[in-house]
Amino acid sequence: MVAPVSASGLAALLSDWRRGGESGYRALADRIRLLAVDGRLPTGARLPSERDLATRIGASRTTITAAFDELRASGYLETRRGSGSVIRIPGGTVDRPLGPGDGLLDFATAASPAVPGFQAATERAVGRLPAALGGTGYEFLGVPGLRAAVAQRFTERGLPTESSQILITSGAQAAIALVARSALARGDRVVVESPGYPHAYEALRGAGARLLPLPVDGDSGWDAPEAEHLLRRSAPSMAYLMPDFHNPTGRSLPGESRARLVRAAEDAGTLLVVDETTAELDIDRVGDFPPLASFASRRSSVVTVGSSSKTMWGGLRVGWIRASEDILAMLVAARPAGDLGTAVIDQLITQELLGDMASVLEHRRAEHAAARDALRATLSRLLPDWHVPHIDGGLSTWVRFDAPVSSQLAIAARARGLRIAAGPWFGIDGAFERSLRIPFAAGADATTRAVEILAEVWDGVADAPRGLEPALGAVV
Ligand SMILES: Cc1ncc(COP(=O)(O)O)c(C=O)c1O
Repeated sequence: MVAPVSASGLAALLSDWRRGGESGYRALADRIRLLAVDGRLPTGARLPSERDLATRIGASRTTITAAFDELRASGYLETRRGSGSVIRIPGGTVDRPLGPGDGLLDFATAASPAVPGFQAATERAVGRLPAALGGTGYEFLGVPGLRAAVAQRFTERGLPTESSQILITSGAQAAIALVARSALARGDRVVVESPGYPHAYEALRGAGARLLPLPVDGDSGWDAPEAEHLLRRSAPSMAYLMPDFHNPTGRSLPGESRARLVRAAEDAGTLLVVDETTAELDIDRVGDFPPLASFASRRSSVVTVGSSSKTMWGGLRVGWIRASEDILAMLVAARPAGDLGTAVIDQLITQELLGDMASVLEHRRAEHAAARDALRATLSRLLPDWHVPHIDGGLSTWVRFDAPVSSQLAIAARARGLRIAAGPWFGIDGAFERSLRIPFAAGADATTRAVEILAEVWDGVADAPRGLEPALGAVV
């Protein structure tokens, strides 16, 4: 059962449907079709009534009716008396771009294969398992040895931390979702970066949050005075930020802005949730970037989320939360509604790898540097008109082009074997049609191939911004 789409939700996804001065029913139908084909309007989703949609997007009822008629005629909409109009894909369904791979080159996921040494760490962990088998295995806070190792890693990074401040979770996503549902009430305002990490938006919205966008530019990053102003003016309950190698732009918040941002959040009574999932993926970043929590004047004003998924392996599913003891107590009380702990063997493996973090990070640095260099070289050779920001770490870059065709580009690329998420996936309101996240975490060869595919389809997409039909024909 797919959830119906509200008029306001569809209006947000349709934000730029009048682009290029076209405001007729064809432009609206094209836009809805694009949303269906790239998965943002899932197959089976019921659309709002024509009247509600007309009011929301400020179009005439005639325009909406004609657009829906065209979608019905082309097989993208099915209307049944009494049950409304439902999205369809002629000849089948389309999987979401953020879904698993199926033989496609998967650039919708910015992640790397397991780090070398993973197998050996697993064997050492298995050797230590018997000592744990006498207990029940339900470790609501996490295995004590791993909590200590995570605390030590924070301390090494310049943020003194005790084991009692650490909660182990099943990945960073589970950590974000737990913080969201424990700390938020329905209707609470939450500041999020835009573009940003889509599954965090989902977790926050799922907890009832109203999201307030804080712009992050692919070149200049955050407008720090504007960020402070937004916090002080809107006094949100929470701000969810990725200050190090932000996903998708790769930008880092300058060291000198960090203290001011934390002070602004504290003054506004805002809980800062800092996602450090990508924080240790440095290639050649210049400057000093202390963890945001090191600027907190109160232990309970910042919650930090981390993960093993990007440094060690996504299949490990181990993350953590660093918070004050009182916040941790609240999280532990809320946790059983979602899960009852994280697999003990996975925690033991993570503990082993944390014991050799210098080698883990050295491997990632070399691998990502090679892929980053290949990405830059291939883009400048094959797509010289695209704007590519400076890349000094993280997992991806956020390129820009002149035409608003990111969704069409992603659809055309998929027909050539490349799964990549179009720019609008990373916005809260369907914007970013002139941007594309290109991950480089899959290594130099795969990254080069991905850019070659983008270049192969680019001319067709850029020269024919309305060229939806040929692309669709190849996809469905
Ligand atoms: C910024 C950010 N936060 C959280 C996550 C989720 O991480 P995990 O796999 O540890 O749940 C990701 C994964 O892509 C991410 O990029």
